[in-house]
Amino acid sequence: MDATCVIIVGSQWGDEGKGKVVDLLAGHFPWIARYQGGHNAGHTIVIGGQRFVLQLIPSGILRGTAKAVIGNGVVMDPQALVNEIAMLEKAGIAVQGKLFISNRAHVILPYHRMIELAAESAPGRIKIGSTSRGIGPTYEDKMGRRGLRVCDLFNHELLRTHIHNALLEKNAVAAALYGSAPLDPGRIYEDYVGLSEQIRPYITDTALLLNQAAARGEAILLEGAQGALLDIDHGTYPFVTSSSTLAGGACTGTGLAPTRIASAIGVSKAYCTRVGEGPFPTETGGEPAQEMRRRGNEFGSVTGRPRRVGWFDAPLLRYAAMLNGLSSLIVTKLDVLDTLARIPVCVGYRLDGKLIDAVPAVAADWDRLEPVYEELPGWQSSTEGMTEERQLPARARDYLKFLASQAGLEIGMISTGPERDQTITVAGSSLAQLLGPSRASTQSAKN
Ligand code: GDP
Ligand code: IMO
Ligand code: MG
Repeated sequence: MDATCVIIVGSQWGDEGKGKVVDLLAGHFPWIARYQGGHNAGHTIVIGGQRFVLQLIPSGILRGTAKAVIGNGVVMDPQALVNEIAMLEKAGIAVQGKLFISNRAHVILPYHRMIELAAESAPGRIKIGSTSRGIGPTYEDKMGRRGLRVCDLFNHELLRTHIHNALLEKNAVAAALYGSAPLDPGRIYEDYVGLSEQIRPYITDTALLLNQAAARGEAILLEGAQGALLDIDHGTYPFVTSSSTLAGGACTGTGLAPTRIASAIGVSKAYCTRVGEGPFPTETGGEPAQEMRRRGNEFGSVTGRPRRVGWFDAPLLRYAAMLNGLSSLIVTKLDVLDTLARIPVCVGYRLDGKLIDAVPAVAADWDRLEPVYEELPGWQSSTEGMTEERQLPARARDYLKFLASQAGLEIGMISTGPERDQTITVAGSSLAQLLGPSRASTQSAKN
């Protein structure tokens, strides 16, 4: 079997710049597929000053050439999808004939959001700081075998009964535990019948579609949402999202077999951020944090919350590289560090005074980790918009070399601004080879 699929994954806590990277690479892949998460994701792409935030539809849709797939592993809010399609069409981007949605993806219903909102603020519950999109409760219903799939939207009898029965339980639980007002099953049924008609043209068996494309030798880019440390199994549990964000999730979330996967490429900021609750060993405050937040515009693209900011965390990257089998790293937002005089990088952790190799399983142990830092001199000049490695100041190159050696990965691409073409493809890297000699320049990605 020929391996035709490449996975792009976040290797921190999300918002690494996956959207920009996928949009950039999409020029080289006829297919782009999302495999997990839902509209908790916010992937920002800036093209010629125009800013798009995609939450459900793969970032590749902005390329005239790529077909976009929402795989079975995604949880889909039909209203969010309809809004996103309308946003794209308003911007002159064709969606009809280019978007394909799995008939097996699970559907987010209003009661999922109701339960999540109420439960997050209930006394005694650990606050995760979720995006309040109903993602967790929808995956709970999926795994509990009481979910509603996209294909079920078109059987109206089944849909009516499903919503009615689900609300018998959800309304009772929400009222008893959280004092929430009940939702009306008839209203939800009517809304979802209307929404299902709007999305009907896009629904298909995407596992079949993608496997047929792969069998024809057509390359597929799999776009991860969230990041390695938000993975339900391997992340900083319980401060995680409810899906398999790692490369492994790409197979179950699309129906593409592991033997189809050629490689997994990680995306990381040149520093680190996190939005929501949970451990963050290299988190920093004060002046440098304010500077990075301001220069990097570190505010959540979905919720507008200020992102927590910290230093590049090499042990965390090594962990993400191991779990994803990363072959290459893309470092984004280098330009955000342009003004700093000194840049600490975490090279190891101490727990109870001892250097540790493995990442702790217990959330409370994460909070007790003491990062071990090495400090590198800043370059204090602008790297913004650079497109060639040789343009970079020597200290910026040294910084990147240090990150690569600490992460144990080659750096294949460096992002120096939010725009598509503010990117350096590292000559001779495996990523440059993957894109092909004629493709290694970011110029060719402009279309
Ligand atoms: P994603 O969720 O991984 O796709 O990342 P987000 O889009 O949520 O957050 C990344 C933010 O950084 C977006 O606002 C991007 O436009 C922006 N961005 C991406 N790469 C760069 C870069 O190299 N420099 C700067 N300054 N901004 C960038
Ligand atoms: P992208 O794809 C950053 C975080 C939330 C919260 C936790 C659980 O843009 O990188 P959820 O709503 O998923 O149940 O919230 O996960 N979170 C993200 N943080 N980027 C994301 O996506 C995120 N999606 C969820 O803030 O802490
Ligand atoms: Mg994001």
